[in-house]
Amino acid sequence: LIPLTPLLDPSSPTFTLTSQALLSALRTSGFLYLTDYTSLIPSSTLTNIFNHSATFFARPQHQKETLASRSATSNRGYNRPGREKVSHGLTVEEVAREREEIGEDMKETYEIGREGQEGNPQPWPDTLDQTGVEFREAMQDFFLKGKELHTIVMRAIAVGLGLEKEFFDKMVDVGDNNLRLLHYPATGKGAFANGRVRAGAHCDYGSVTFLFQDARGGLQVEKLEGGWMDVEPRDGTIVVNAGDALARWSNDLIRSTKHRVVEPPLPSSPSPSNPSSTPSTNSSSTSPSHSEPEAEGHPPRYSVAYFCNPNYEVWIDALPGTWENVEGGKKYEGIKAKEYLFSRLEATMGKE
Ligand code: NI
Repeated sequence: LIPLTPLLDPSSPTFTLTSQALLSALRTSGFLYLTDYTSLIPSSTLTNIFNHSATFFARPQHQKETLASRSATSNRGYNRPGREKVSHGLTVEEVAREREEIGEDMKETYEIGREGQEGNPQPWPDTLDQTGVEFREAMQDFFLKGKELHTIVMRAIAVGLGLEKEFFDKMVDVGDNNLRLLHYPATGKGAFANGRVRAGAHCDYGSVTFLFQDARGGLQVEKLEGGWMDVEPRDGTIVVNAGDALARWSNDLIRSTKHRVVEPPLPSSPSPSNPSSTPSTNSSSTSPSHSEPEAEGHPPRYSVAYFCNPNYEVWIDALPGTWENVEGGKKYEGIKAKEYLFSRLEATMGKE
């Protein structure tokens, strides 16, 4: 658990200590919970985002299809269930094999990129109705919040690594990030037979990811010694994890940990008095207004992920201090961020 407030103010007496704790968590497990963030992102903002997300996915399929993502690397628009197969596979062939063996991921997504990227407009639903206009405004605001949080977290990482706190500022200021709304639809009881999961085991590609979860659970990370560990949804936390680009950038000092989303066991009793099915305080604030029927089988799950990337033009090469005194020195060749990220995206999104 890392509190955000000390990281907002470099003159805070605990700024350095908190930065070191954040880096240490990314070095050991690759995952952490960020707490105490409401001065930057109020709970009401998250409630609003989750409500808009649920309303969006409840739109008729033909409306969503008009906003479909145009290509793997556009990172914008709607992806119907089955479009993406997240995977640890690094190539189109590896991912295709997994797609055949385990089946496609049972989720639909809507992706949002930064404004003003030439030749890559965002297909907003704002031409459909007023709700679509409000959706666009809410998501644009939230996109900028995520960008701000990215800068703050990268400053903490810089300080933890013993670099100037502004070291990454100019490398993340474009905001080549990706805000993703996810909806895992309700499914029947037998849907998760044969090893099928909500989202297959994978590492994220970028620098860091911020995950806002509902209270359903199901996120698991791979343990160092093998096997999976639950990342329990916790009230008032943002799950932060490091991605492959940051691991590579840090000469693997920072860990990008494999994770997946499985379906948590069905509640033993559907009775509302059963404490295990009573929503926690946080879930009531972030649970969508349009829930789907929960009669038989697995209820739907909503989450919001904010994938941060270095600016596409940044050259990713082992950071100062991460390789000089390491046996073997640099483990990777330098690569442009865009080239690295696009090769990963094209592998997972499949060919249309
Ligand atoms: Ni992920």
